[in-house]
Amino acid sequence: MRPSSLVVVANRLPVDDSVAPDGACEWRRSPGGLVSALHPLLRHKPAAWVGWAGGIGDAPALADIDGVRMRAVALSAEDVRDHYEGFANATLWPLFHDSVEQPSYHRRWWEGYQRVNRRFAEAAAEVAEPGAVVWVQDYHLQLVPGMLRELRPDVRIGFFLHVPFPPPELFMQLPRRAELLTGMLGADLIGFQRAQAAHNFAQLAAKLLDLPATDQRIVVGDRVVRVGAFPVSIDMAEMEALARRPDVVERARRWRGDLGDPQRVILSVDRMDYTKGIEQRLKAYSELLASGQVKVRDTVMVQVAVRSRERVGQYQILRERVEREVGRINGEFGRVGEPAIHYLNHPFDRAELAALYRVADIMAVTPLRDGMNLVAKEYVAARVDGDGVLVLSEFAGTAAEFTRAFLVNPHDLEGLKQTLTQALRATPADATDRMRAMRDHLRTHDIRHWAHLYLTALDDTGSLAARLTTG
Ligand code: ADP
Ligand code: G6P
Repeated sequence: MRPSSLVVVANRLPVDDSVAPDGACEWRRSPGGLVSALHPLLRHKPAAWVGWAGGIGDAPALADIDGVRMRAVALSAEDVRDHYEGFANATLWPLFHDSVEQPSYHRRWWEGYQRVNRRFAEAAAEVAEPGAVVWVQDYHLQLVPGMLRELRPDVRIGFFLHVPFPPPELFMQLPRRAELLTGMLGADLIGFQRAQAAHNFAQLAAKLLDLPATDQRIVVGDRVVRVGAFPVSIDMAEMEALARRPDVVERARRWRGDLGDPQRVILSVDRMDYTKGIEQRLKAYSELLASGQVKVRDTVMVQVAVRSRERVGQYQILRERVEREVGRINGEFGRVGEPAIHYLNHPFDRAELAALYRVADIMAVTPLRDGMNLVAKEYVAARVDGDGVLVLSEFAGTAAEFTRAFLVNPHDLEGLKQTLTQALRATPADATDRMRAMRDHLRTHDIRHWAHLYLTALDDTGSLAARLTTG
């Protein structure tokens, strides 16, 4: 593979293992914030993307996609078990999300994490041209910056964490905590979603590694590692264009009819993940139905919960519980031809998502903890009509930007019910006013703004940022 001047390294490629035998593939927007954020940026740029194609065994040779080189990393069944399902998604993911589920610690998983991180670092070293910028993404690959610096001291290394970075009291649980921090500190610039995360990280570097640290700079030997908050975003123009497409408008109209033309449609779109607060939301909705504050004939709830990480025990349990609860609610409150909740667990394409967003009078985004939450931003972008009401958890990174949403603490069941009721009763003038403020914010803080901020900070010549964020 020809070397590239910009290399993105992420656990997942934006394609799955269903590529054709000749290696031909399409951009598959796999459900998840990371792919959604990076996909519109890299298209038609001279970049390479190093990642896992989702299968087991040999890495497929993938054709370029929209001019971006795809370098697949091979993972064995043990690698997937110990790295992806184990240390990444059963240790770090719950720990970094306030331990809303119990993190598990196994020595074998740590070995797998190191092994797979080394393989990603080697692959990145192979495809980076001399002096390239290598941008490592997310919690699966926190050791890659340190490993890559040893292999390729000539490259400039960025690291961006898409998920929250926990407070020191929680992080201190981690058995291999110092190694994980040291791995991240191999980067020249470490980006977080929120200033609080950068602060947590700097505190830990001082406490655990005894390094001189502020929230902006950490001194590691003769290097200075910069740290900062760079809230990730979406391609607003792309979502707006989709939402305006006549076939999308027509589909939204048809779907509303299929839902029985109710007065109000409440929508939630999540990966099936225990951080998303799906069970709390269902409970609130069920109590609103039981008390008669919401009536099935007037209001319909649509819950999209796309299947995710299905081999991880906590995800299997969650899915069973959610499906049982949806069944119970529909059994109790539904009527013939009028279910109380429409539950869908499959992936949608972007145009379908845009149509769903256009159908939703109320969008309920109520995670217990979320690094950012791009669904909330997609909803706002899709409301080209200026209507629609967003109910948003205080614990999503997005809440720092969308202060005009109906903000809610999803742990507070009464508060959640009250906020949903307020959203259902919002006057058109109030709703439009709030939506306008959020759309204005998003317009100046879209994905290009994010990339520009981050890459100018990483590459002080500014040339990379200019190339990536135009066109
Ligand atoms: P996370 O990164 O935790 O999954 P985000 O809300 O930041 O949460 O990002 C989720 C992304 O996945 C969004 O871009 C959303 O459109 C996409 N997505 C969610 N559900 C589906 C689905 N059923 N089909 C396709 N894409 C989905
Ligand atoms: C979140 C993570 C991403 C991940 C995505 C989907 O957005 O931050 O790194 O890719 O969820 O999860 P998956 O396990 O399917 O890659």
